[in-house]
Amino acid sequence: MQSVSVRAHGSSANLGPGFDCFAIALDAVYDEVTVSLADTNEIEINVIGDNVPEDPRKNVAGVVAMEFSRNHGITTGLKIRIAKGIKPGYGLGSSGASSAATAFALSVLFGKNLDRPALVELASAGELASAGVAHRDNVAASLFGGFSMWIEGPPKRVINIPPPDDLYLAVAMPLIEIPTMKTMYARSVLPQSVDFEKHVRNTANASEIVVGFMLRDARILGEGMRDEIVEPVRSKFIPGYASVRRAAFSAGALGFTISGAGPSLLAVCDQRQVAVSVLKEMKSAFDSEGISSDGFVSRVGSGCSVIH
Ligand code: HSE
Repeated sequence: MQSVSVRAHGSSANLGPGFDCFAIALDAVYDEVTVSLADTNEIEINVIGDNVPEDPRKNVAGVVAMEFSRNHGITTGLKIRIAKGIKPGYGLGSSGASSAATAFALSVLFGKNLDRPALVELASAGELASAGVAHRDNVAASLFGGFSMWIEGPPKRVINIPPPDDLYLAVAMPLIEIPTMKTMYARSVLPQSVDFEKHVRNTANASEIVVGFMLRDARILGEGMRDEIVEPVRSKFIPGYASVRRAAFSAGALGFTISGAGPSLLAVCDQRQVAVSVLKEMKSAFDSEGISSDGFVSRVGSGCSVIH
């Protein structure tokens, strides 16, 4: 085999109280990564569809490939072609998806059959390079799909639960100027200590999300998406957050949160038509604040798949 192409979906991490642990794959957005053996001993990257660096040391796919080659004593060169479908810097797991697809493609191309924790560890080398911290939530969801929980352990593991059939997500992306190294910045504002009462309430809310997925009940999991620890801090950096939140609930959303490190905002719905209306109202709320926005309605996506 000379070449493997893999599709990896974007993701929304945290879901409120599940900071750095919970994420869902987003069916509507994905990257496709093709890894091919090269005649040289260099790693060469070619990006289509977005302004992402092609220097392998600055590109998450390049970082993952270098880590893989180091770990497995591989000296052959690689050509990596990345078709970006997920806009970077919007909290939609863009770097996580490219990292996950590259890790998965390398494992298949070299017949390594890496297990789940090993794939997560490998892909998170890309997140370390991009966010300064190897958070595993996005890569776990992009690799394995569904609602995904990264458990630090020991032992390290990923638990996935398939989504309810009636779960629809409205995702609004405010087109605000994004500071460079967006996630890195969003992590620099995290609280250094946690109020005990808030921790108790967050634990109850996170449990409700897990129970909602297990009972396949969009209402319960939506109710759990209330975070008293990180979201109050990060929401201050998202202009229009409060009015978009109000608009989403008035239009019928069952839950609302920041997608990953933001600035995209995610609402949970239990019917496609409701999600379409919720998205429309979220975008008009951004408009009323003088902020233009993009957005989409998505189902929960599947994990990485080989496309050829
Ligand atoms: N859990 C990470 C964060 C996700 O919120 O910083 C980044 O996409």
